[in-house]
Amino acid sequence: MQILDGKEVSSYKKEEIKRETEKFFKDTGRRPHLVAILVGNDGASETYVNSKMKNCKYVGFESSTVRYEEDIREEELLSKIREINKDENVDGLIVQLPLPKHIDPEKVTETIDYRKDVDGFHPINLGRMQRNLPSFIPATPYGIIMMLEHYGIDTQGKKAVVVGRSNIVGSPISILLARNAQPGNCTVTLTHSRTKNIEEEIKRADIIIAAIGKKHFVKEEMVKEGAIVIDVGINREKSDKTKSGYKLYGDVDFERVAPKSDWITPVPGGVGLMTIIALLRNTLDAAKKAVYQK
Ligand code: GUN
Repeated sequence: MQILDGKEVSSYKKEEIKRETEKFFKDTGRRPHLVAILVGNDGASETYVNSKMKNCKYVGFESSTVRYEEDIREEELLSKIREINKDENVDGLIVQLPLPKHIDPEKVTETIDYRKDVDGFHPINLGRMQRNLPSFIPATPYGIIMMLEHYGIDTQGKKAVVVGRSNIVGSPISILLARNAQPGNCTVTLTHSRTKNIEEEIKRADIIIAAIGKKHFVKEEMVKEGAIVIDVGINREKSDKTKSGYKLYGDVDFERVAPKSDWITPVPGGVGLMTIIALLRNTLDAAKKAVYQK
């Protein structure tokens, strides 16, 4: 068993982005600028956005957070997005999800200018990604791809089973792994709440992507000997034993699954750290306009 170490890969990639940012600043006199919009007081969202901002600062980006109360009107939010779309000093714009129920996330996503959509959620980016054209790739799937690439893991012809079909992770990673690329060329099965015999599907997988949001959903008996296990779960539970007051659990029962697997990501210290790197990469590419020049 070997660990796909998010700490190692993310710190390597972060330094790379930092160096490129300094060069970009020397060449252009400006720094990539990411804006995050945060609505309401969700504790997890607050933590994620703070961490994104801290990492932006570390690599030398400008960053700002726009905060709104839970009861902001949808139109007010959309009009702020339109204003930021026009702001030439902003390269990347994300709206942290989930949003309050009265706001339609589809409208929000489609209002963001696709050239600033560093989350890669806009239908134009998703369509371009599916066609293997340059686009912003959603951060979590992009982070997983970067990790597989970094460790030189050969995915060609392997059977990948994705657990969970969310717009943010399950659906885009299934597209990426099926593409004619490396990493890619997998035979992908996308499983979800209506899948029959989900355990049997997972058992057949050479690569498991667990993105269902349920603590320790993937158990030892569901995993084939020698599988590659990617755990996307970040399930927060209150704990008085940690500084933050929370303990994180993956979607995979790491202790029992790890000895059976060839490669596995831990939680914390795995995919979560890579997600931020992918967002930084997308923002730097947006500033360089690297994505849409081609
Ligand atoms: N909520 C959970 N993951 C994400 C993400 O990647 N981007 C945004 N905007 N919100 C999220």
